Amino acid sequence: MPIRKELLDQLKARREKALAGGGADKLQARRDKGQMTARDRVGALFDAGTFQESGMHVRHAVRGFGMDNRELAADGCVSGTGFVGGRPIASYSQDFTVAGGSLGSVHAKKIANLMEFAVENGMPVVAFNDSGGARIQEGVASLAGYGQIFFRNVLLSGVVPQIAVICGPCAGGAAYSPALMDFIIMTKSTSNMFICGPEVIKAATGELTTMDQIGSAAAHACVSGNIHFVAEDDAHAVALVKELLSYLPSNNMMDPPHAPTDKIAMDPDPAINEVMPADHKDTFDVKRVIARLVDGERFLEVQRDWAKSIVVGFGRIEGVVVGIIANQPAVRAGTLDIDSSDKGARFIRFCNIFNIPLVTLVDTPGFMPGIAQERGGIIRHGAKMLFAYSAATVPKVTVIMRKAYGGAYIAMCCQDLGADVVYAWPTAEIAVMGAEGAARIIYKREIETAPDPKAKEAELIADYRERFASPFQAAGSGMIDDVIDPSETRAAVALALRKTLGKRSTRPQKKHGNIPL
Ligand code: HXC
Repeated sequence: MPIRKELLDQLKARREKALAGGGADKLQARRDKGQMTARDRVGALFDAGTFQESGMHVRHAVRGFGMDNRELAADGCVSGTGFVGGRPIASYSQDFTVAGGSLGSVHAKKIANLMEFAVENGMPVVAFNDSGGARIQEGVASLAGYGQIFFRNVLLSGVVPQIAVICGPCAGGAAYSPALMDFIIMTKSTSNMFICGPEVIKAATGELTTMDQIGSAAAHACVSGNIHFVAEDDAHAVALVKELLSYLPSNNMMDPPHAPTDKIAMDPDPAINEVMPADHKDTFDVKRVIARLVDGERFLEVQRDWAKSIVVGFGRIEGVVVGIIANQPAVRAGTLDIDSSDKGARFIRFCNIFNIPLVTLVDTPGFMPGIAQERGGIIRHGAKMLFAYSAATVPKVTVIMRKAYGGAYIAMCCQDLGADVVYAWPTAEIAVMGAEGAARIIYKREIETAPDPKAKEAELIADYRERFASPFQAAGSGMIDDVIDPSETRAAVALALRKTLGKRSTRPQKKHGNIPL
């Protein structure tokens, strides 16, 4: 006896209703505004035919408000699992066409269930946020729903990568779920994210502001540092998610998707020598060095527009996935300040969680001097770099390109902080402080009593740089492994990575360390 046709018809009708979301008109209106629908986003993310939805037939929990008999397709949340580039991924996508994508208790339960599935099966979570926030008609049940999600964000943190895409509104407490994830991508002109909007700020403090100033993708990418990538539109956001995933393991028990080349190219790369200016006072763009080091010049920069005196991001070197942390001499001489320390430390910790080796490129005169920095807590923030590097047990390869002065020499992953291999270029200056300052202090009397103090000062500064800040000083005391020709860097780093990939480092058991926050 074959299955009764009316049962299959009923299933088909129910599916069609759920797939219609808030209705053809509302879906079209979104597309007319240049946005994808919730299902478009999921469709674009997953390999064709691999998405399996969970919770398509749920019923909402609103009682009263004339809503009892109203249906909310999938309760405003498309959720399920599929494959991205052949690897399993869990994803949910809020549907703004269904009650504004607002989060009620069933909507929250779907997300919580998906997150549990993801953590138990070791797969990343990709969350598309497009929601008016807590479903007002459900009252505190919505708040409980957010609590359940936040709790699971933290449970998953450090076990599976979590990526949030903000492609519509994300207001109030709702912003804390993305904030608890590893990476946030915002679409350039169709999203916003804030705790208190301009009207609330005005009522509470009298301050006048605009959404552009406090909640736009640009504000978060350039000023607050809350997000990691800006996407042109939804399609670009999905492409960024895929690119990011291509560097990440599925969970903390796996290695990242290394694709080691059979043979490491050992040829020197003279182009890298062109990057470093002859005069040590001149600046250069460290991204040009990074481009010479990574395969195919492909570097996925994270937080490109914030705290620009440090550059962080992912690449591959002879196929091995690496996280690169580099001082940027072209921005404030590459000084470490409050924001760049936060940026660097968070990236280092992410890489460590997910077994991604760290390559550090050093050219920094030190921590940023200034009243605002001191009063803003540069001690606390700078300490994050020391903490993150010291705690990281992944392979750590450091290249000192030029200045490595003072505490910043240590903070940029020196040997004593656990670097496995440290190379220095002949241009490296490794010292307690800059040659100028140091020479003026230790040769004060000679300079003052010289017939031509200016000439004497210049002579003694040069002498100091030569004798005390030279990389051969550091090499002489075993603080660095080798002084290398910059053109040899790519091959040297690639070899060091291959030799350290199997690194095992055991530390005392503890709940967790107490990073200065
Ligand atoms: C229920 C909501 C909703 C919500 C929107 N809708 N937000 N329904 N709860 N929070 C519904 C609308 O009633 C409407 O339904 C549909 O979604 C589309 O909304 P519009 O207002 O027509 O759309 P638009 O003009 O684009 O404005 C979008 C918006 C606005 C800016 C998001 O809807 C808005 O301000 N919503 C309220 C935002 C908010 O204050 N949320 C609560 C935050 S408190 P119909 O049926 O007409 O299509 C919060 C606490 C979280 O989230 C705490 C966690 C710890």
